[in-house]
Amino acid sequence: MAFLLVGYAGAATIAALLCMLRLFYLRRCCTNPIFTEYPFVGMLPHVLCNLWHAHDYSTQVLKQHGGTGEFVGPWFTGMNYMLTCDPLNVHHMLSKNFRNYVKGPEFREIFQAFGDGIFTADAEAWRYSRDLFHSLLKHKSFEVFLEKTIQKKVQNSLLPLLNHVQQQGRVVDLQDVFNRFTFDNICCTVLGRDPECLSIDFPEVAIEKAFNQAEESIFYRHIVPTFVWKMQQWLQIGQEKKMTEACRTLDEFIYSCIASKREDLSRNEENETGETFHVDLLTTLMREGKGKGEAHEDIFLRDAVFNLFVAGRDTITSALTWFFWLVATNPLVEAKIVEEMNEKFGINEKTVLRAEEVKKLVYLHGAMCETLRLFPPIPFERKEAVEADVLPSGHGVNPRTKILLFLYAMGRVEEIWGEDCMELKPERWISEKGGIVHVPSYKFIAFNAGPRNCLGKDLSFIQLKIVAAAILRSYHVQVVEGYVATPSLSIVLLMKDGLKVNMTKRKF
Ligand code: HEM
Repeated sequence: MAFLLVGYAGAATIAALLCMLRLFYLRRCCTNPIFTEYPFVGMLPHVLCNLWHAHDYSTQVLKQHGGTGEFVGPWFTGMNYMLTCDPLNVHHMLSKNFRNYVKGPEFREIFQAFGDGIFTADAEAWRYSRDLFHSLLKHKSFEVFLEKTIQKKVQNSLLPLLNHVQQQGRVVDLQDVFNRFTFDNICCTVLGRDPECLSIDFPEVAIEKAFNQAEESIFYRHIVPTFVWKMQQWLQIGQEKKMTEACRTLDEFIYSCIASKREDLSRNEENETGETFHVDLLTTLMREGKGKGEAHEDIFLRDAVFNLFVAGRDTITSALTWFFWLVATNPLVEAKIVEEMNEKFGINEKTVLRAEEVKKLVYLHGAMCETLRLFPPIPFERKEAVEADVLPSGHGVNPRTKILLFLYAMGRVEEIWGEDCMELKPERWISEKGGIVHVPSYKFIAFNAGPRNCLGKDLSFIQLKIVAAAILRSYHVQVVEGYVATPSLSIVLLMKDGLKVNMTKRKF
């Protein structure tokens, strides 16, 4: 009898538990689910099964759901997100109701490696960094310094390296070349020193690898429940072990640069020369300090340097890599870019153009915009709601709702770009009068929109066009046969296997 009673009690407890779970399941079901939700694991299996083509898959699914939908993660993991690629929602969050959509504490936890830099900061801390970076990056003297640095690097390192591989008839990984190029440049402009990674020996560069690793691990933190990566972090295994090692390498490098820069500066002060030897950003940050004679602390400088590296390195590598892949696979576009350059500057030896000159290349500008539309270097962004709100699409948002904005999908929306949105058409950026068509930033979202828009947009176009023009004036780029361009799984849209090409001298 007692045995039977225990049996009944056990069955009743299991039934009650199942009912509670069922109720829990029904209560958490969202109004506009983006996938079928399964008990316990939520919608995560859809993501994991399609991880290999995550960007295209999310684009397709969002389109099927009118641009906005909800993702529900495994139970008790807090992995629930509102996903959108609707330009009106994006405009609302990034501009109209900007104050209500912040990066938030969870973002800072995931992007821990960024410290309290401009990318992770909110409110006053963000405003301070924004004003500071604005004064640094929008200063005419910095634009001139950047232009000179780029021209020197293109003339003295990039073109000789490409010439070398072309003469040897070797296949070269252009993404690797651009990685090295942008790394040298960002070191010159931010730290005032050139590590010379871009050289024909293709030296191993631990710092550059560490940056890539940190970015990959941050992406991973987006797709596994928080407790999983935190447990891995605690146990120091898997991606988290790699992340810790990468951050250690990066911190050692950045802090050693700060220390040696301090020494340089104090030596210069001792000499009382009064001359400005450096215009690199770290020197300016150290010289100017916080005002009222107060210096910036090392941790602030570390975070500023880290954020500038991420802002200005991989984004440019990504844009150049996808640009050359698109141009190499669209011969008509290549021919028109070359024709425009020849028309404007003639067929001569001068391959490295000045900033003022590349600004005149409208068709090249259109081709670059098309690249950034189809392959935005930052493919998604993350926001968190402060207060309840209703998005223009009619979707309700609760306080602390996490939102993912799919920049990649936004470049492929027919409603914005027309039915030919999947085609590379630089012409869509050229007006009837031959000028550049302005598209509002909440539609052409590659550089973000609203008060947090990219501070390096104009500088980026100068860099991208100087490099693209220099290479295309001298070389024809051919992607190796059978190569398939696959986006990497990272917070920056690089190519998973690099971009393997053959270079041949351009014949006129
Ligand atoms: C093709 C090149 C680039 C692209 C596509 C790009 C794109 C973006 C995007 C999408 C954001 C917003 C990120 C977010 O809030 O999560 C951003 C912010 C920013 N970018 Fe860029 N960027 C590029 C190059 C650069 C360069 C070269 C610099 C400067 C050296 C730069 C400096 C910044 C800064 C400082 C911010 C933070 C703005 C803020 O939060 O107020 N970017 N960029």
